[in-house]
This record gives sequence, C-alpha cells and structure tokens, in this order.
Amino acid sequence: MDDASAPWDGLLLHAHLVTLAGEAGWGVVEDGALGWRGGRLCFAGPRAALPGDPAQLARTVHDAGGRWVTPGLVDCHTHLVFGGDRAGEFEQRLQGASYEQIARAGGGIVSTVRATRQADAAALLAQSLPRARALLADGVTTVEIKSGYGLELESERRMLQVARRIGRELGITVRTTFLGAHALPPEYAGRADAYVEAVCDWLPRLHAEGLVDAVDAFCERIGFTAAQTRRVFEAARALGLPVKLHADQLSDGGGAALVAEFGGLSADHVEYSSEAGVAAMARTGTVAVLLPGAFHVLRETRLPPLQAFRAHGVPMAVATDCNPGTSPLLSLRLAMALACTYFRLTPEEALRGATVHAARALGLDDRGRLAPGLRADFVLWDIRRPAELAYWLGGPLAAQVWAGGRQVH
Ligand code: NIG
Ligand code: FE
Repeated sequence: MDDASAPWDGLLLHAHLVTLAGEAGWGVVEDGALGWRGGRLCFAGPRAALPGDPAQLARTVHDAGGRWVTPGLVDCHTHLVFGGDRAGEFEQRLQGASYEQIARAGGGIVSTVRATRQADAAALLAQSLPRARALLADGVTTVEIKSGYGLELESERRMLQVARRIGRELGITVRTTFLGAHALPPEYAGRADAYVEAVCDWLPRLHAEGLVDAVDAFCERIGFTAAQTRRVFEAARALGLPVKLHADQLSDGGGAALVAEFGGLSADHVEYSSEAGVAAMARTGTVAVLLPGAFHVLRETRLPPLQAFRAHGVPMAVATDCNPGTSPLLSLRLAMALACTYFRLTPEEALRGATVHAARALGLDDRGRLAPGLRADFVLWDIRRPAELAYWLGGPLAAQVWAGGRQVH
C-alpha cells in the first residue's frame, strides 16, 4: 500500500513540463516540478504549488536545469528483434525492384526469417539490444516488440523471450506482440490455411508462458487473407488477448474494419484504409498507428486518410515500425518528424501520437502524460521549445531518461 505521508522517492525541480493534460495543447507548466514515489508520479505541477519544502518532501531532489520535460515516449509498433539485415534489398529497390516483387521472389520477410532462425538467443539479444538502446537514448521508455521472424514455435518463442529480456536489461517496459501470421514460411508453401492453424495452436502455449501481451497479423496480398486473419483473431479472443493489425498497408483489404470488428487496440499503416474502415475504428476506439518510416522507405505516395481520422475522432499514434525491411528506423523522434512532414501532423499531434495515443494503442492507461498516479516515466530534453522534438532530424536531444522513477539513460 502506498503511504501518502511517506516521503517521496524523488523530486525534480526547475523543469518546464509538457504534461499533455486535456485533449489538445501541450499542457505546458513553466517552472514546474515532478514528484514520485514507488515508481509513480505523485506530483506534476507548478513548483509554487508544492505542498511543502522540497528538502522535506523527498529523499532526493534533482535539478532539471530549466530543461523541458515530457512523458517518456512510447514506441507502439516495432519488430526490433531480428537476425541479419536487408541492406541488399535496399540496394535492389534502388535499382527499381518493388517490396512486393522481392517478397514474391523469396526475399523480404522470409529472408529475415532465415537469419533469425539461425541466431541463438544470445546472438539475437546481441544484435537487438543496441537497437532498443538507441530508441531509449532518444526518449523511449515503453516499446512494443513483435515476433514474426521465427514462423515456427521454437523461434517465435525465442524472439519473445529475447524481447522480454531487453526490457529487463534496460529497465524499460517491453510489451510483446505475437505476429506468427506475418508471412508464410517456405515449409508451408501452398498450405497457408494449415499454417494459420499451426499459429492458432502455438498461441495458447506461448501465452501460457507469459510471452504474449497482444496478437497481430499481416493482412495483405503478400500476407494473409481476411478469413485467415479472422481465424487468428478468434484464437486471440478465446484467450482474452487484445488484437492489432498490419492493415491496408499496400492495398485496401478491409483490414481497418476487420480489426475494429474485434474491438482491436490499433490498425497500423492504414495508407489504403477506406472511410468505412475509419468509421468502424471510431466506433470501437481503435487507434490508427501511423508508420511514416515504412512510408518513406517504400516511397509510398498514398497518404493515410488523415482528414477522415480527424473528422471521426480516431486517435493517431506514431511509431517507428523498426524492422530490417521497410523501416530500419531507430529514432521515434525521427518518426515524429516524418509524420509531420509527410502526413502534416502538428508537432503537438506527433508528440501525443508518440505518448498518450501510443500508450492507448498498447492498451496502457497508466502512462503517456505527466499526471499524479501515472508511471514516473519522463525525459529531460535539451531544447528551447517543445516543437523542436519533431523538428530536429536526429541529434542527442534527450539529456536524461527516467522509467518508473529510475534514471535509465
Ligand atoms: O510493418 N508489413 C509487414 N511487416 C513489416 C515489414 C517487415 C519486413 O519487411 O521485414 C512492416 O512494414
Ligand atoms: Fe510492422
């Protein structure tokens, strides 16, 4: 039990807070303070409103030096655990080959599957941990990590175990998503339905091992059909697991409406989603996860239905989609910047997309803003105004990163 009279674990002074309180605006508190105890914020407001003398309130007092402080960033869509790289395909695409052509010729996701199957847990961790560290160094305190490069029980399990291990190593939150239905492994060629049945059979086992927080699929011409996706979602529903979907990335396959029908947390990519799909998402509170890194790398020109999202009140999140094929992107701030430039999000929308809306896309309501009761996840930034977060393309802006009341960077 939290003892409200106990001293706070920590107190941060001389900070300008971006609280993101309310539905719009930065929620700025100039000369603000943050207090925390037991990993949660117990104060977020003007220093002048502190309920006593700082030295008496908290065990340790920290000086933000007048820096801006935001909630810890939430990267709600990554595939950052994988073996190898696909720089060769990058070169092929520059010569004119398309992502779909490469996939159909046996490259793409399946080539990363080969490299991931070959990597043991130690190798997978050694390759993946630096990617997670890069995200953390740029302000990420919660990261979703998908499986989907194993496509056989043992390798999917290894990916999810490595994802959990990354969270422990770095002291940040990792949410795992089972993406067994990412691509058809070669041993199931011509037997997609049988593969989907295998995926549905692995899911309860991985879930029983505590490795699955949500379930995802790739519903696409080069992925799985709507009927197959539905099968996977039914298996998730039987276990009470939330679903999300790689929806309408390369074509309109009705993915947005499908994931909404299952009350899904999010529809991701969504470049080709229809207005009807957007309306369905609005009814179920399904978040649209924008992935401008993949949009950029694939030189996509079709914009997600941004005006429809706004008109229907669908919250928009922004994520890196960090993966070796379509988005080798290791900065959520850079994803925010791309979302502003390509999708015309405002810098404030981009920050909400990488905090409070991203948390919602993971089903987390205990983070994403600076407010008492929420997790003490926050970042101190070397910037003069909040819009700079989505303005600089890279650069070491995060001076300190705190997760659960502990400094992790
Ligand atoms: O989010 N579209 C499917 N999945 C990933 C790409 C994975 C890959 O190419 O390795 C995506 O874009
Ligand atoms: Fe993805």
